[in-house]
Amino acid sequence: MPRGTFITFEGLDGSGKTTQMRRLAAWLTASGRTVVTLRQPGSTALGDRLRVLLLDSRSESALGPIDPLAEMALMFADRAQSIAEVIAPALAVGSIVLCDRFTDSTEAYQGAGRRLGSQRVLALHAAVCDSLQPDLTLLLLPPLEVALARARRRNHRQAPTQPPTQSAPSLPTLPQPAAEDRFERETDEFYARIHAAYLQIAARDPHRVLTVADVAIGDNSIDAIELRIRGLVAPRLS
Ligand code: ADP
Ligand code: TYD
Repeated sequence: MPRGTFITFEGLDGSGKTTQMRRLAAWLTASGRTVVTLRQPGSTALGDRLRVLLLDSRSESALGPIDPLAEMALMFADRAQSIAEVIAPALAVGSIVLCDRFTDSTEAYQGAGRRLGSQRVLALHAAVCDSLQPDLTLLLLPPLEVALARARRRNHRQAPTQPPTQSAPSLPTLPQPAAEDRFERETDEFYARIHAAYLQIAARDPHRVLTVADVAIGDNSIDAIELRIRGLVAPRLS
């Protein structure tokens, strides 16, 4: 059985990854391909629990500040589980795997954003993920302020209507409304470091990482980016 195709979506919060991944999945499925989609953190039972711990700002009210190294290790714990449970089995039977974020996110957010450094992230990737690399990474990189404004608007729309009680903070449990605002509360400098790290990753690995949705490209409507992505993906499929 041939190995399938592993495609990841990367970019800042609000860059349009989720929107474009859904559209690409629909297009590939309509053309008769078997497609598996997932996001990181999440998409396994363990990963969904880790996602709440990592993304809900209320988890720090309950647990105290999450150390950057612990944050990085939890991202890799999530990744190891999703490789074992979802990604590797799907690739083994020849499926196309579309993944919303992968190790480039850890390099950008924990390596650059939290200043842990790329080397530490890449060493952990080798140890935990057996250096699994995507066949193609689609990097969506609209201007920093555009992406952040979109993400903050979206999270505001999705925020729970009841604020958490101050007196008795408790660990969020599933299921519950999303409050995925822990990273979006970070400073603009934090996001500027992430933006720069993505540019470096793309420059380092130009065959794997293709940049879409950039100011330099012109029409950055959702439809135009969708067509551009199709044009980039088609030649990479066996
Ligand atoms: P991400 O998954 O990268 O955080 P989303 O796909 O959730 O991004 O998009 C964030 C918000 O921005 C959504 O409300 C989405 O409809 C909107 N959006 C996505 N792509 C574009 C685009 N190219 N132009 C304008 N709005 C967009
Ligand atoms: P995601 O759900 O993709 O958020 P968005 O739709 O806003 O882009 O990712 C959740 C958050 O987790 C995002 O702020 C980036 C962060 N993250 C890391 O910091 N490191 C990682 O390794 C991953 C996978 C995500």
